[in-house]
Amino acid sequence: MKRTILLTGKTGQLGSELLRSLPRLGEVIAPDRNELDLRDPETIRLVMRDVKPQLVINAAAYTAVDAAETDEAGALAVNAEGPQLLALEAKKVGAPLIHFSTDYVFDGSKNIPYVESDSRNPLNAYGRTKLAGEEAIRNSGADHLIFRTSWVYATHGRNFLLTILRLATEREELKIIDDQIGSPTSALDLAEATTAILAGMIARAKDQLTLPSVDGIYHMTAPDYTTWYEFAKAILDETASTRQNLPWLTSATKGRPIIARRVLPIATQAFGSPTHRPAYSVLSNAHLKETFGITLLDWRSQLRKCFSLERNPAILPPAFSSH
Ligand SMILES: NC(=O)c1ccc[n+]([C@@H]2O[C@H](COP(=O)([O-])OP(=O)(O)OC[C@H]3O[C@@H](n4cnc5c(N)ncnc54)[C@H](OP(=O)(O)O)[C@@H]3O)[C@@H](O)[C@H]2O)c1
Repeated sequence: MKRTILLTGKTGQLGSELLRSLPRLGEVIAPDRNELDLRDPETIRLVMRDVKPQLVINAAAYTAVDAAETDEAGALAVNAEGPQLLALEAKKVGAPLIHFSTDYVFDGSKNIPYVESDSRNPLNAYGRTKLAGEEAIRNSGADHLIFRTSWVYATHGRNFLLTILRLATEREELKIIDDQIGSPTSALDLAEATTAILAGMIARAKDQLTLPSVDGIYHMTAPDYTTWYEFAKAILDETASTRQNLPWLTSATKGRPIIARRVLPIATQAFGSPTHRPAYSVLSNAHLKETFGITLLDWRSQLRKCFSLERNPAILPPAFSSH
């Protein structure tokens, strides 16, 4: 049976990687935000009723962490109210919902990896709205999987990898936060793992795709951790050792040479961001491994993989249809 998969957020880091990997599971209908706006209930209802998907994957989100501080209502609409309606509509058509959440639902006061059942206490507006989204989906009655991830980056979009590359063409010295610990996770690896999990479920499900024994929250990140400072140094090391002519790298640096010679560690306080972020947000992936038999690559290998990709972000795969 040909499955119809509704994917939101196709222009985002994760959404665009899912757009490449999901077509092997079925026909992917991927409306952009003009067609399905999570802030506009009517567009959600219209698309869901029109497409009648067998599976809904929500990769769309309000991810501007600093902007959310002064626009919490806007972030809540996208991160909680829209997903809640998506879940209710998914329930009506009997489709499981796959959703993504964040390490920022935790306050960072632990010093060993967070497990799914640890108490949530977000420090910022973005984390509060993502937590509200998790709860709305859990209370919707829809079959669901929520994958909490962290420090997401890709060779396109807005992220730490591309910011460091840009700054490295502008400054000889970079000052990078060294007292926040987390797990950088590439959108490519997230999309591949998500698709592999869904492929396994589809293989077991025959006709109706249900998730009776596995719905709930799972942590899905690189299994190890680092600091932003170490991550920045690794990015510059990979850049220096790259011998290939990578279109995404040329685009990130605008073809300019890297002039950064030093990376200096600084404290969060010295950085002076108005937004509070957890000092420690490492997530245990044991539940993911036990349930699905999947472990993502370590963070350094994920980064290395990006530097071996000759992909052009402007080229989308042919195997998708846009609603
Ligand atoms: N980025 C991170 O570091 C990070 C960390 C932890 C968890 N996560 C979670 O991982 C998931 C994927 O994040 P990401 O980094 O791939 O996000 P992203 O690159 O910021 O992409 C967000 C996507 O959501 C779409 N979108 C925004 N507002 C929308 C609306 N009102 N209606 C419909 N679509 C809308 C955007 O469309 P436009 O292109 O039109 O704006 C874009 O396609 C999210 O659930 C996020 O919360 C991310």
